[in-house]
Amino acid sequence: MLEEKYQVENPYMPERARIVRKYDLTKDVRFFQVRICDQDKVFHLTSNYKPGQFMMMSIPNVGEAPFSITSTPSRPGLFEFCIRKVGKLTTKLFELKENSFVWLRGPFGNGFPVEKMIGKDLLFVAGGLGAAPLRSLLLYALDNRDLFGKIFYLHGAKTPEDMLFREEFFRLKERDDFECHLTVDSDPTGVWPFEKGVVTKLFRHVEVDGKNTAAVVCGPPVMYKYVVEEFLKLGIPDDQIFMTLERRMKCGMGKCGQCVVGHKYTCVDGPVFTLWDVKNIKGLI
Ligand SMILES: Cc1cc2nc3c(=O)[nH]c(=O)nc-3n(C[C@H](O)[C@H](O)[C@H](O)COP(=O)(O)OP(=O)(O)OC[C@H]3O[C@@H](n4cnc5c(N)ncnc54)[C@H](O)[C@@H]3O)c2cc1C
Ligand code: FES
Repeated sequence: MLEEKYQVENPYMPERARIVRKYDLTKDVRFFQVRICDQDKVFHLTSNYKPGQFMMMSIPNVGEAPFSITSTPSRPGLFEFCIRKVGKLTTKLFELKENSFVWLRGPFGNGFPVEKMIGKDLLFVAGGLGAAPLRSLLLYALDNRDLFGKIFYLHGAKTPEDMLFREEFFRLKERDDFECHLTVDSDPTGVWPFEKGVVTKLFRHVEVDGKNTAAVVCGPPVMYKYVVEEFLKLGIPDDQIFMTLERRMKCGMGKCGQCVVGHKYTCVDGPVFTLWDVKNIKGLI
């Protein structure tokens, strides 16, 4: 038996965690609040991660996959995830009742460089499931409001029913220490009280000091090009424009090679990349 100081925890060994709450955010995306069962690790794990990092979540004999942490380390105690039902693991996760167990490894990935964002204006643009990692950063920034300049949050969805965290954003819109603008492509309900149209239309509300702004976009890849064009029009430098990129992953920690693009491991060097990275690393996007 090795002396305790030489023992390293096995990073492949997951922590058992309990689903304490779950509810539907949209017709195919479900919100999960999960608590690590080992009381000694709860606080450490849920307060020592960066917005933009992800956990590998598994169910034995079913599978394992990466999911962005949507909660913020500034509110420790629980991990929160929003999960879209797409395949084997996520279908099984949707079948689990509250109080069931899942297994978690992580946190993994580089996360957003929060320390480089301090003192800057923040501009967030979310679409679809991209709201999951962005919510973590937004709540973190709001919980540490004094550290940042102006904050703008722009969020687009296909319809009101497809907008993740709709009610939460309705409440956040009432705050007067940041600007939250919501839009939908179309409104079959006929009662949507806010704007309609693509998310780039919301840029007309944005007033930031471009050179001193950190901009983040998360959403379907198709929207990145148009959103980045708007960031550049505002004069935001390439290395202050951040985006999350997804690749198939297995180990989550730079060992298996599954997620390699060029000379980068998406699981370790990402999933957050700058526009500078995207322009200089072939095949990243
Ligand atoms: C860093 C990171 C963060 C993620 N965060 C979230 C999150 O917060 N919420 C969420 O719902 N999902 C997230 N995902 C995606 C999630 O990991 C996959 O959807 C996962 O494969 C689902 O497992 P499954 O067994 O249910 O589906 P599978 O059976 O693995 O796959 C179902 C379908 O999705 C396709 N697919 C799976 N993964 C990818 C991928 N990375 N790129 C393109 N196509 C893919 C498969 O080809 C297949 O058609 C994230 C992925 C990464 C890499
Ligand atoms: S997932 Fe194994 S190296 Fe990235």
